[in-house]
Amino acid sequence: MKNWNAFWSLCMIAVPLAGLFGCGGGSTTNNSDTTPIDAVSPVHKVPDAPTGVSVVGGTNKATLSWNAANGATSYNIYWSTAPEVTTTTGTRIASAGTSYIQRGMLPAVTYHYIVTAQNSSGESSPSVQASAVTALTDGSIPYTTFCAGCHGKLATSSVTDTSETEIRAAMRNMSAMYSLSLTDSQIAAISAALMYNN
Ligand code: HEC
Repeated sequence: MKNWNAFWSLCMIAVPLAGLFGCGGGSTTNNSDTTPIDAVSPVHKVPDAPTGVSVVGGTNKATLSWNAANGATSYNIYWSTAPEVTTTTGTRIASAGTSYIQRGMLPAVTYHYIVTAQNSSGESSPSVQASAVTALTDGSIPYTTFCAGCHGKLATSSVTDTSETEIRAAMRNMSAMYSLSLTDSQIAAISAALMYNN
């Protein structure tokens, strides 16, 4: 674009000065000069704002999804416990696909989200806000009480992505775990907290 403009400017100066022909097909009254320039310029445009943002609260997590936005190469999530979250007030999670699971969240808290679409030209305007409450159950508490001593902190546990069935099997089969006595709801909450990838 820049070079073309420079070319045309030079040409328009050169014609009256030297009596040259050949600018824009030889006519000095040609007012379609800009047409081929626009036609060959690649279109750089920020993506459309994401639509259909939905969020579901779970045990110590929230699961988000939204529709793919026209022109997007990735997405940014902004979240806050204060309503009417903006790209300024929200905490940013960059480079997401069209879904995301946020982990390690507090129980029974409402989280608010907006999503923007990103490409090399920039960031879209934000989506409509979506909100969800996490479950009342806090799996991190029984995990810390009963499991962390041997398997490490929840965030870096050596037994992540463990189902209830797998926990029960370990309690039967691992002698170190024979003495554990847990209720069904404690096992369910611990498993939910450990399900990092589900
Ligand atoms: C006193 C120590 C101790 C405690 C407490 C403990 N574990 Fe374990 N656990 C072990 C040992 C030792 C193993 C066998 C080696 C391993 O896989 O780390 C094991 C194995 C496991 C396994 C099987 C891993 C596999 O690869 O098959 C699971 C699942 C598990 N534990 C979950 C838990 C959960 C959930 C809790 C809390 C409710 C817990 N454990 C509490 C010591 C413990």
